[in-house]
Amino acid sequence: MKMLFHCFLITSGAALIFLLPSLMILDEETNVVSYLEEVSSTKSKERKVAGHLVLENQSSEPGIVEVDLRAGPEKLSIVQGKVTDVYAYNGRIPGPVLEVSEGDSVIIHFQNDLPENTTVHWHGLHLPFEMDGSPFHLVEAGESFTYSFRIQKGTAGTYWYHPHPHGRTAWQVGKGLFGGIIVRDPNNPLCDTLPERLLVLSDNRFKEDGQIDFAVPGSKQQQIDEMNGREGDILFVNEEINPTWSIRSGEVQRWRVVNASGARIYRLAMKGHTFTHIGSDGGLFEHPERVEEIMLTNGERAEFLVHATCAPGTEVTLQSLPYDRYMPMMKPDNWDEPLDLLTLRYTDEPAMIQTYQVPEKLRKVPVLKEEDATETRIMRMSNGKINSKVMDMKRMDESAVLGATEIWEIRNTVGMDHPFHLHGFQFQVIDRNGEAVTQRKWEDVVNVPPFEKARLIVRYERYKGKWMYHCHILDHEDLGMMGILEVR
Ligand code: C2O
Ligand code: CU
Ligand code: CU
Repeated sequence: MKMLFHCFLITSGAALIFLLPSLMILDEETNVVSYLEEVSSTKSKERKVAGHLVLENQSSEPGIVEVDLRAGPEKLSIVQGKVTDVYAYNGRIPGPVLEVSEGDSVIIHFQNDLPENTTVHWHGLHLPFEMDGSPFHLVEAGESFTYSFRIQKGTAGTYWYHPHPHGRTAWQVGKGLFGGIIVRDPNNPLCDTLPERLLVLSDNRFKEDGQIDFAVPGSKQQQIDEMNGREGDILFVNEEINPTWSIRSGEVQRWRVVNASGARIYRLAMKGHTFTHIGSDGGLFEHPERVEEIMLTNGERAEFLVHATCAPGTEVTLQSLPYDRYMPMMKPDNWDEPLDLLTLRYTDEPAMIQTYQVPEKLRKVPVLKEEDATETRIMRMSNGKINSKVMDMKRMDESAVLGATEIWEIRNTVGMDHPFHLHGFQFQVIDRNGEAVTQRKWEDVVNVPPFEKARLIVRYERYKGKWMYHCHILDHEDLGMMGILEVR
């Protein structure tokens, strides 16, 4: 076995600079690069899952996950040869993965070492309002807060965490605050030994000196960023730019993907390969779907299987295909070019004999019946507004009763896409432009293209509260394209 050191992080603060090597192991027998279970660092034992450091569980009690999370300014080397002032969770971009199981009680001791207020929002998780990290519950600069909640049964899937202070979300996420969440199912219907990867996708823009390029207030660029949402020309998969990953011919890998970009929409595709799409925001589908590409709008997640069907030695790239989400006059110059995300290199070993059969039935997704819906709420998404209103924290836009089942009709009344997100509750899309969707799935973001509409059904289970709904293009959200649903 040979150890490879890759990626060195320079941690700021005091004069202390220490290196955090992420270890990979080249297993000589199979020659497949796999991540070390236990990774040693200068501080303590650190564990990797799906290619990410995991927030270390300090509890030894079964069913309890207790972790420390700290947001603070850092200096990291994220673009070649430069040092960038960023914000990071536990000194990393993306932040370490929160790995939990259904039924777990989770306790997160959060410390805000940023020079500004923040929150930690657990995007997609079903939890008490006070724990949602919405703009209602700011953690002030220098303060700490303990988030605690229960992971509900049936919610196994891929989620993520990010800040949510009103008007500052795009900035704080752009500075580097985001991380993945994996919720495991103790009765995983897929083979447990499939190699697993988590891809947290983000993009950013940098100045010559390596600093993050945010538009100057009042500039043309700022107008563009507010309209389109801020996009960057550098794409990251986790902390890397176009990394090379290995796969062995014949192998099947399970990939989880999070779109943590403030505005960029990804159409994931790999030449000569199809994916088996198995899950969305709220976990697994009922049935797997063979697809050529997977579109992921802001805040969304996907789970799929990658089948290594090419010959040993092949090299392919995972790309994001062009997607026109823009106002007609506002398209970036290179919007129609495919962008490379990562290179997948087949090892030279002979193809392995793959006997793994994807189960036809992954799980049962409960039916929410339209006839049980007691209300239909209409959301008209225009530029910067929902139902002609700009968000006001003191105004409850919608009010509903705990336990009710309702339909929301999201109408996009303008010429660019708006991905609509609801806090607190997973929903099911029923139809788009009147056409029924083919498979029932749990989602918390639904993208609505220009002048189209989508209807979703949702049940407000378990938790009262003031739940945000908003466009997940972060600049739109910050400008007030957000409202509040009060569940009483
Ligand atoms: Cu991912 Cu209200 O956000
Ligand atoms: Cu959310
Ligand atoms: Cu929008």
